[in-house]
Amino acid sequence: MDWIKIFDSLQHMKQTLGDKPRLLIVHNKRLCIAVHDDSPLVVSDRCPHNGESLSKGSVNYLGEIVCPWHGYQFHLQTGRECAQRAPDVETIPYE
Ligand code: FES
Repeated sequence: MDWIKIFDSLQHMKQTLGDKPRLLIVHNKRLCIAVHDDSPLVVSDRCPHNGESLSKGSVNYLGEIVCPWHGYQFHLQTGRECAQRAPDVETIPYE
């Protein structure tokens, strides 16, 4: 696995990302990065339900990314959809 440095510090990450999920393209792969409880969390940008871009969604207080299309909620750490209506979203490790 290749590790890619994106931010110089936690402060740099928080200043850059703010409180909205963002699209990150790494090696032609679309990823969604978000901050929850001061930690970066990264998942595939493609919603497993019907393919919408999760980086267009929002993060709720439970640390779930909420898809903007049909509102399915995927836990950013486990990738699991809260009501198990869709397959898990791929989670991406980070350091
Ligand atoms: S496309 Fe994401 S919930 Fe339907």
